[in-house]
Amino acid sequence: MTTVSAVLELDPFAWTFHDDPYPIYARLRAEAPLYRNEQRGFWALSRHADVAAAFRDWELFSSAGGVALEHGAEASASASFLAMDPPRHDQLRGLVSRAFTPRRVAALEPRVRQLARHYLGGLAQRGGGDFVDDFAARLPMDVVSELLGVPVEQRTELREWADTVLHRPEGVVGIPPAARVASGKMVACFVELLRERRRQPGTDLVSALLDAEVTGERLPDGEILAFLFLMIIAGNETTTKLLANAMYWLSRNPEQRALVESDPGLAARWVEETLRYDNSTQIMIRTLTRDHELHGRRMPAGDKVALLIGSANRDERVFADPDRFDILRDTRESLSFGVGIHFCLGASLARLEGRVALEEVLAHLPRWTIDESRLVRVHSPNVRGFARMPLRCG
Ligand code: HEM
Repeated sequence: MTTVSAVLELDPFAWTFHDDPYPIYARLRAEAPLYRNEQRGFWALSRHADVAAAFRDWELFSSAGGVALEHGAEASASASFLAMDPPRHDQLRGLVSRAFTPRRVAALEPRVRQLARHYLGGLAQRGGGDFVDDFAARLPMDVVSELLGVPVEQRTELREWADTVLHRPEGVVGIPPAARVASGKMVACFVELLRERRRQPGTDLVSALLDAEVTGERLPDGEILAFLFLMIIAGNETTTKLLANAMYWLSRNPEQRALVESDPGLAARWVEETLRYDNSTQIMIRTLTRDHELHGRRMPAGDKVALLIGSANRDERVFADPDRFDILRDTRESLSFGVGIHFCLGASLARLEGRVALEEVLAHLPRWTIDESRLVRVHSPNVRGFARMPLRCG
């Protein structure tokens, strides 16, 4: 059995953990590859091989008990196919996957570039602003909204509610009242959207889902609402955080910055290394369907297991010198988008948005600097990134 020193604690709700989780991950991999948090009632896997194996074994590591530490936290997102096992998972995923094929996603590139230029143009003209508020949060929201058919006038509010749904005040465990209220507002907004699309169908994904059938039956509204929730939280928030994380790590690594600025063709590598080095999705939860033994300990059926993506991506067994931000490294083993049947449906889209956004940053944001003294972090047990990033340019 592994001996754990008393001070090794993984608390995904602790603000100190959000500040820098990586030293804790390194200790977990070395000292407690199967870690138990008795107080919060979960196990955690931190080594790459264990995290990947658990992602792949959906029959043992089920998603049906929810994929967040606080089940029900994201209200109806926890009723989406992200938190289902086959066969229902495969049926629902199959319905929307057509919208996310590499070919369909590639066709979005001109529009993504146009949006990126629009927002960055404003930022450059003003000599700076807030990189998150003025750009990183807007681009993914517009892209997802256009896919879903969310009207322009609702996007800002939806973004603000999504931020509130994710935020955890210091010392608070469980879903804070403000997050519940914001969830309710998002659901009400989506209910209205369904009503509108029923009245007047469009060419968007929501209209297609209203029209779709699985095994001869229409989808219940609850499943469509849950999908919308998933797209706004999982699809939108993660991409927003990716963009600001990319800026942060480039600014902190001047030699890497010089490399990318001299060859903008490296933007895609910049995206991949940011995802590996500091992924916006840190932790996914599974529930054991039967007893399971690992690293000499027995976990009983029904227990929750945290798969630590952020730690797997820094595993020295897989990545040489893992704590070095190196955009030229081989990132193919990175688990940033998961692996197996729940592999991120939006991975191609996120990669496209990331690459295009950063190419446009290189082209249109001259001599930018981040005011690190005024950076504000997001505080959430599994989403990692910045809520505010003051930036100057010109
Ligand atoms: C940097 C951006 C993103 C990251 C890091 C990310 C990460 C992930 C991860 C780790 C999973 C697997 C969850 C699990 O196994 O439990 C996942 C699933 C998913 N993601 Fe993403 N994601 C990103 C962007 C997007 C975008 C842009 C969309 C769509 C617009 C999207 C839609 C989804 C969906 C629908 C699933 C559920 C797939 C399933 O359960 O079969 N994601 N994502």
